Amino acid sequence: MTAITGKIGINKRPGELGVHSLSEFNVVVPDLKAAQDFYTAFGLDVREEDNMLGLYTHGNAHRWGAISEGAIKKINMVTYAIFEEDFELIKKRIEHMRIKLLDPPPGFESNGIFFYDLNNFLIQIKVGEKTSPDEKVAFGDIDGSAPPNKAGSWSRQAKPEARPTRFAHMLAFVPDVLATVEFYERVLGMRLSDRTGDMIAFMHGIHGSDHHMFAFANSAGRAPGLHHLSWDIGSVNGIGLGAAQMADKGYVKGWGLGRHVLGSNYFHYMQDPWGSWCEYSADIDYVGVDHDWESKDHPPEDGIYVWGPALPEDFLHNYEADQFEGKES
Ligand SMILES: [Fe+2]
Repeated sequence: MTAITGKIGINKRPGELGVHSLSEFNVVVPDLKAAQDFYTAFGLDVREEDNMLGLYTHGNAHRWGAISEGAIKKINMVTYAIFEEDFELIKKRIEHMRIKLLDPPPGFESNGIFFYDLNNFLIQIKVGEKTSPDEKVAFGDIDGSAPPNKAGSWSRQAKPEARPTRFAHMLAFVPDVLATVEFYERVLGMRLSDRTGDMIAFMHGIHGSDHHMFAFANSAGRAPGLHHLSWDIGSVNGIGLGAAQMADKGYVKGWGLGRHVLGSNYFHYMQDPWGSWCEYSADIDYVGVDHDWESKDHPPEDGIYVWGPALPEDFLHNYEADQFEGKES
């Protein structure tokens, strides 16, 4: 499948401070082998690195995620990248807000800025490559549409491997969606793209990014937790190949094919071994560096999808909160 780099130059909104990319997520799971099997089947390049797993997309040197082992599944840290010239300015702004800055966690050598958000998610902000797209990411069929007199599909034997091209976004349960939006606007300089009341909100970066790089769903007073990690695979055909590939390897519980209203992306979600989800995504809306996206409050019926199969009954279940409350997941 064609690699999508999206690199045509550096986008930077002049005179405004904000993160440009969600650079890396760090998630803890109880069983690294189960994670290795799941993410490999999903089509990622999973590498064993220093007692953890690095999650890469094939053909791309950027590490999108690090998975380490621990007693319970949780988001350990989220790293955002900024432009070098913004580092001191953002650091000063955060200090001015009297947010407590922390030393790097044990095992991390970094000159980044570390602090907790209001949900106790550890955040790192550091100078780094802009991995969010600089333009709307290409969308289409893997090989294009077949010309006349030529078969367009593959045999089942010869179908290509499904391989996501990049990490796209994540969604987390949080107790207070609107307070979280306010924090990420004020501290990280992100912007609200769209929301559904206080149930779900989608945020983008100001220097050109997808419609959302991080989204927040209401945890109804329960503990924060990961809902899903999303990976761009570039086409509806790729999404279908991904779902079939997972089924071939025994991962049958999913939700899709469908299309979201907010963000507009086509999707198929696969449930991971801990009850959260991994999304194949394609054709998500894009907010250019010079565009002020009109943020709207949408009716609840538009919060999840425009078409697709019925939601699995536990699609919005917060399994991580179960762990903290001592329930079986
Ligand atoms: Fe998503």
